Amino acid sequence: MERKWWKEAVVYQIYPRSFYDSNGDGIGDLRGIIQKLDYIKDLGVDVIWLCPIYKSPNADNGYDISDYYDIMDEFGTMEDFDELLSEVHKRGMKLIMDLVINHTSDEHPWFIESRSSKDNPKRDYYIWRPPRDGKEPNNWRSFFHGSAWEWDEKTGEYYLHLFAKKQPDLNWKNPEVKKEIFKMIKWWLDKGIDGFRMDVINLIGKAEGLPDGKNKDNFDDYVMAPEHWANQPLVHEVLHEMNRQILSKYDIMTVGETPFVTPEIGALYVNEDREELNMIFQFEHMDLPDFKDSNLLKFKKIQKKWYEALKEKGWNSQYLNNHDQPRQVSRFGDDQNYRKESAKLLATMLLTLPGTPYIYQGEEIGMTNVKFSSIEEYNDIDTVNYYHEEVAKGRDPEEVLKELMPKSRDNARTPVQWTAGKNAGFTTGTPWLKVNPNYKQINVEEAQKDPDSVLNYYKKLIRLRKREENLALIYGNYIPLFEDHEKIYSYIRQLDNDRFLIILNFSKEKLNFTLDEIPYKDYQLLIANYPVQDEKLEQIKLRPYEARIYRLR
Ligand code: GLC
Ligand code: CA
Repeated sequence: MERKWWKEAVVYQIYPRSFYDSNGDGIGDLRGIIQKLDYIKDLGVDVIWLCPIYKSPNADNGYDISDYYDIMDEFGTMEDFDELLSEVHKRGMKLIMDLVINHTSDEHPWFIESRSSKDNPKRDYYIWRPPRDGKEPNNWRSFFHGSAWEWDEKTGEYYLHLFAKKQPDLNWKNPEVKKEIFKMIKWWLDKGIDGFRMDVINLIGKAEGLPDGKNKDNFDDYVMAPEHWANQPLVHEVLHEMNRQILSKYDIMTVGETPFVTPEIGALYVNEDREELNMIFQFEHMDLPDFKDSNLLKFKKIQKKWYEALKEKGWNSQYLNNHDQPRQVSRFGDDQNYRKESAKLLATMLLTLPGTPYIYQGEEIGMTNVKFSSIEEYNDIDTVNYYHEEVAKGRDPEEVLKELMPKSRDNARTPVQWTAGKNAGFTTGTPWLKVNPNYKQINVEEAQKDPDSVLNYYKKLIRLRKREENLALIYGNYIPLFEDHEKIYSYIRQLDNDRFLIILNFSKEKLNFTLDEIPYKDYQLLIANYPVQDEKLEQIKLRPYEARIYRLR
């Protein structure tokens, strides 16, 4: 497979609102990121992915854009952005932006015009329909609860919003929409950014006639209808055209966020000869609540399926959390008894599975989920809407709160814990979202001092992955071992004669590990998350959440 910088890169995701506040208003900002660039560089990553920083009324923290050519007031100015980009480049790193083009804000001038009258030239920029039997045009449910249609009194029609009602979906069948968005993409690339993470990009096409969804689920009368709004032929047409007309003219990387994809569908987006995207974020493993019981087995199967489907044709990505998901150490590890060990174990896996790894801010110090005590402390529109919807159905508020706690997107959005000082050193003011109370123990300053910290382990691991002699960790074949083991995950990455063995104990138990499946002459331990005295590979007694990487000869 052809070598490319974005295949060899480690990506670091920033959620700017929660990263670092430079001016004491309680909200992270661009100048805050600039101040922390040396920290990011020191971690060893190559690419920064910035969640949306465009002008936005913030109904969904920037995923509702009102001006693609301007910066959110709270985050700074275009000058700040230009400085950030140049400071990132000066340090030899790259910067990719979030591209949110399935929908805009309802405060975008296009939508303001579109809703002003039925014959406005921009009417058709969005998806408008008359009522059906006095009700919504179809039964689609929005991701953020309730109908995906919002009634507009003035013109007597509904508009479609797969997300919040302040996020109307663009009509990608309209060539004007495509022209405008393509122009904007080019404008950012000409500024010198290094690529895009494309927000829910596989949802931009909707099925002809907008048919009712079939999936009767337990929610209410509205149903999730991915069969009609995910992976439609139009998505592939648009991406191919975007690739040929624009993306292919620059040395950039692209990663599509694509819920509801199977490996077969995923391959259509990333197979190189189809000229669409470099990689996607698939979601199959995000259906697993944890790695308990048979869930680790399911995860292994997902990894294998994706590897087989993309092998030699396209590239994959790897992530275990992001701004929409709970913290990985709380979900897949043990944030109570083995926080450090399990955080390091997950890192070992993330950085050795096939595909480009994505680290989400705070993951590198083992930040955990948060437990807020009342709904008022939550901010996320998804969480808050869900709570009110459930309570309105008559459910016990306490019970609903308990249910959403481990799932809320705010778990990932609490401010980054920089120090043990006030507000975890995130802001001198009042943080927009409460800091996780465990910041006195878990913070960057502490982690930098502790040679045994999760942070220092990430640094070692990233450096290990990047050494030319370890290229098999990136391009090597993926050979799973012990495939039916419920607690041990082990695999080999092999490129020509270079072989690496990864051993991961996903349990609190002490387990014996014997490598009798494959022959080897010699071996060398490269990294482990416990001190290892006896490095003998013949018979290892794995400790709780132990992780090791060996080179085999
Ligand atoms: C993506 C984003 C999420 C956002 C949604 C709507 O899933 O990651 O944060 O709410 O799209 O833009
Ligand atoms: Ca600020």
